[in-house]
Amino acid sequence: MKHDNTNNEVSEDILDVGGDIIDSERFEKARSIPHHFDYDVAAHSLDAAECALLICRILKRLNIPVEQEDAIRASLLHDLGMTEDEVFLSPPSEKAYTHPEEGARIATEEYGANEVQIDAILHHMWPIGHIIPHHTSGWILVAADKMSSIRETGSYAARQIAQTMQSVTKRRKDT
Ligand SMILES: [Fe+2]
Ligand SMILES: [Fe+2]
Repeated sequence: MKHDNTNNEVSEDILDVGGDIIDSERFEKARSIPHHFDYDVAAHSLDAAECALLICRILKRLNIPVEQEDAIRASLLHDLGMTEDEVFLSPPSEKAYTHPEEGARIATEEYGANEVQIDAILHHMWPIGHIIPHHTSGWILVAADKMSSIRETGSYAARQIAQTMQSVTKRRKDT
């Protein structure tokens, strides 16, 4: 089942600090941009924000200071560079390098992102790009982005397996 990225599913903590992003025209456009498998850019961004929130809660329990607001806002913004046609239509090898830069520009111009959020967005593709994030929230985004991608890949693979099993079972019944 496709991830339903409506506001109803979003954690209160994310809505509190990122509601303006989720309600924005740019984010609405992101709902129509395909990303991983059947996830769109908005659904992936919301998923990454949920993962970032989970990581923040774990780190806080361990008494590790986190910039939770920065981590959540950077997660919601990190792939919005994909909403620009010239980025989206470019080859994947190019896109991997250009969408963080375009995302950082959009985050600055349209959402007033601060230096910590910009740094996290610029380096979220690490190890691609080779430059490491310079703040804790940047590392949280790196981990949250990968967690979200793995979850999306896993749910896609599970659906494919279920469909294959169904068709095998049906074929056996038909013979
Ligand atoms: Fe990305
Ligand atoms: Fe991402």
